[in-house]
Amino acid sequence: MVYLTRRERFSAAHRLFNPKLTDEENEQIYGPCANPNWHGHNYILWVTIKGKVNPDTGYVVDLKQLSKIIRDRVIMKLDHKNINTEVDFMKDQFISTENLAMGIWKELEPFIQALNVELHSVKLQETENNTVEYFGK
Ligand code: NI
Repeated sequence: MVYLTRRERFSAAHRLFNPKLTDEENEQIYGPCANPNWHGHNYILWVTIKGKVNPDTGYVVDLKQLSKIIRDRVIMKLDHKNINTEVDFMKDQFISTENLAMGIWKELEPFIQALNVELHSVKLQETENNTVEYFGK
């Protein structure tokens, strides 16, 4: 089994808040990510797949195909968007890095399975110091 990782980047706006709480309470829980006037992050996304090397090509997967799936299903929907208001697969969720990594997993998994490889992990960096990794359960 060989593991292969593709890195992509996107920039997006969000606000992390609970609508049932006041701005002050949200600020206490979520800090600067609760800013009522939005703010952005330069996210880095690592998508790792696993599979066997195809003896006819020497590849686990065609990276052009993998990259196209990640771009079409995820990057195009997120890059330079407001995640709270413009991203269909994140509707009505807390826009935390955890939920975003899980949302990206759900978006990608069926298309990656169609390439006859398994999705192993989705790793998402929101800031230099904060990274989330999701393995599908
Ligand atoms: Ni934030």
